[in-house]
Formats: sequence, C-alpha cells, structure tokens
Amino acid sequence: EKVILAYSGGLDTSCILKWLLDKGYEVICLMADVGQKEDFAAARQKALNIGATEVIVTDVKEKFVEHYIWPAIQMGLIYEERYLLGTSLARPCISVALVEAAKKYGAKYLAHGATGKGNDQVRFELNAYALLPHIKIIAPWRDEEFCNRFQGRLDLIEYAKKHGIPVSAKPAAPWSTDANILHISYESGVLEDPFHVAPESLYEMTVDPITKAPKTPKRVSVHFANGLPTTVVDQSTGKQYTKPFEILQFLNEVGGAYGIGRIDIVENRFVGLKSRGVYETPGGNILFTAHQDLEVFCLDREVLRTKQVLRNRMADYVYNGFWFSPEAQYARRCIEISQEHVSGEVIVELAPGYARAIARKSAKASGGLYNEELVSMDVHGGYVANDASGFIAINSVRIREHVRAFGDYEQH
Ligand code: ARG
Ligand code: SIN
Repeated sequence: EKVILAYSGGLDTSCILKWLLDKGYEVICLMADVGQKEDFAAARQKALNIGATEVIVTDVKEKFVEHYIWPAIQMGLIYEERYLLGTSLARPCISVALVEAAKKYGAKYLAHGATGKGNDQVRFELNAYALLPHIKIIAPWRDEEFCNRFQGRLDLIEYAKKHGIPVSAKPAAPWSTDANILHISYESGVLEDPFHVAPESLYEMTVDPITKAPKTPKRVSVHFANGLPTTVVDQSTGKQYTKPFEILQFLNEVGGAYGIGRIDIVENRFVGLKSRGVYETPGGNILFTAHQDLEVFCLDREVLRTKQVLRNRMADYVYNGFWFSPEAQYARRCIEISQEHVSGEVIVELAPGYARAIARKSAKASGGLYNEELVSMDVHGGYVANDASGFIAINSVRIREHVRAFGDYEQH
C-alpha cells in the first residue's frame, strides 16, 4: 500500500519513514517548501537512502503567501491577541500538496509526524478529510506500538544509528522549531517551563532590539487594495516591492534588523492544553500593524466592530484546523466584503522592537470616510454642534436613572 509521508528531513520523520517501510508500506515522501531555510536536496537524498520510493519537493512559497498569508492579513487574524498564526496558516497549504500527491500516486494513506498532544495533528487530518474525504491517516505518534518502541529522542537516535540513518552531529536545540516565510516558532524542551526565559541565541529571524537594532528608525510605506498588500516602498532607498513573496521577504529582513515581531506567550491549544511558545514574525507584524491602522481609518465604525467579532471567530477556526470548513468559508467571505474600501497607504516607522503607523492615506480622492472638513476644529463643515446637546441629554437618561434607582456612583 502506498503512503504519502509529510517529511521534514529531521530525525522524527526519518525514523517514521523507516518504520513505515518495515511495516511493508511503499512510502512517497513529500516536502513542502513554505519558505523555511532547508537543504531540500540533502533531505531528499536522505529519504531516498532510507528507502523512500520517491521524494517530492513542492515549492508552495508563492501559494502560501498569496492564498493564506495575504488573506490572513486582510482579515486581521490574530489568535488570543498575540499570535499571528504562522504555523496554523501553513498547515492547510501543506495539506493541499499532500492531498494532490495522494491523488497523483493513488495513495490510500497519509502519514505525518505530529504528536498526539498538539494542534498540528488536528489540522493535517481535518484538512485531509476536507479535501479527500476517504483518505486514511497514519499518525505514528498515536500508534501504541510506535510509542512503546520510541519513548523519546534517545530511542529515535539509537534506532536511526542502527539503521544507518544519518543523525546530525551538532546537538539538537533544546526546543522544537517550525519555520516558514511568515514565522519561526519555538516550543517544548527548556521552553516548557514558562518562567524560564528563552536565551537570546534562540532567535533566528530577529536581532535583539535593545542591543543590536539601529538607533535611527526607518520608514516603509505599505499600500493596500481591498485590505490586501499590493506594494511596499522602502522610504530610505525608494525601492519598491510588488510581488507578495518579495514584499514579505523584504519586511522580514528590515523588521528582523529592528528586532520587530518577537512574542513569548502561553497559548491555549485546541486539544485543551496550555503551551508555551516563542515566535518571530517580523514582516507579518509590520503588515498587521499597517493593515490595522488603515482599516480603522477606512471602515465604518459599526462595520469594524462586526468584522472584529467574525475575525476573532476566524482566528479560532484557523488555529483549530478548520481552514476548510463551512464556517471559515462563510466568515472569510463576510470579512472580504468589509474590506471593499480598505485601500490606501500607511507609513510605518520601524523602531527597535516595534513597528508603528505614523501616517495614512485613503486611495479615495475624496479621502473616504475620513472627512477633514467635518472633523476640523476650525470650520463647521455642516456639523451642527448644538445637536450634540440633545445627543448627550438622551444618553444621560440611562446614566441618571441608575443613580435614582441605586444611589450615587462611587467617586475615585
Ligand atoms: N503552537 C503553534 C501552533 O499551534 C506552533 C506549532 C508548531 N508546530 C510544530 N510542529 N513545531 O500554531
Ligand atoms: C506537535 O504536537 O506535533 C507540535 C505542536 C502542535 O502541533 O501544537
């Protein structure tokens, strides 16, 4: 029987590959290039040496940025107020590649190396069932025999050595990482103690903002059409970026140089556990900041509030693995409608450790909903100030009724 294995080139999935072969499966490995820095040729050769029938390396970088990250920016997705969903968004993109391979090779099975305690197992499998309802899943880390055989890393290393699987000479980092063009995440190992401060040496995409970032800020301008980034201009050089992947690459570079986009959080996993994670999302942080600014500028207040409710639901759907679901499809379309007028330009200042919007402009020649004349302190602009007296009086009815019924407000 044929299996498509989501292969990373690392110790876990290499041992899983060998284990599947020993169980009699024919294994086709798939590596999805989502922008992680990886020696794909070496990993490919490694899998072939172990015995994979075929190793597919699919470049889905552009797809990942255009079909997953850009919509996430447009929707303003953020999980539990802080996490920009770098791993969560990559999973459906990788799942599409896995399912396409399963179809192409006529494989009945899909295998992955996600653990039984995490979000990724849920994401890969829900995506797979959504795209190929009759697919069968092999999840070794939930297999009793596999888990008895391999208690932890040491067992994997011993097994690898016994079977001639090369084990990296340099000791593995005391945490696990997941990298792509949007972010790098760090979890487990020494990070499991949430009071243990992550060492500076952990960070790969960003410098220490306090000691390594330039003291003078830098400005970039981000252009949006319907809430989607279209162009980014480096204000110091005038250089323009218009291809989504290149925009993100550029913002990762400059954002990284200012130490922007680091978070260190404890988050709620879908399976019910709390887990500590450290993330670097420099470019994503800049785009999120710019989009948020333009959105409040361009959107009607009540549309904005309604949209934020949907956005929070959507962030949960994406985190929990429901990218391909009726509710996500529905929420996404609704949010897209809200972005109809979110077009224009935001100037973002990059300073050590953070990005801050400092100027914005709507694409509408009229200025859009922002009416400079209407809001001006210097002209009436058609606003009848005296109407505010009645507005305040009626609003005060409820406030005063509270006093009549329950007595004075506490004064602090
Ligand atoms: N906690 C993050 C998430 O669930 C990151 C997961 C990282 N995954 C991994 N296999 N290392 O989205
Ligand atoms: C894993 O458990 O495989 C990684 C962490 C997660 O998926 O949440």
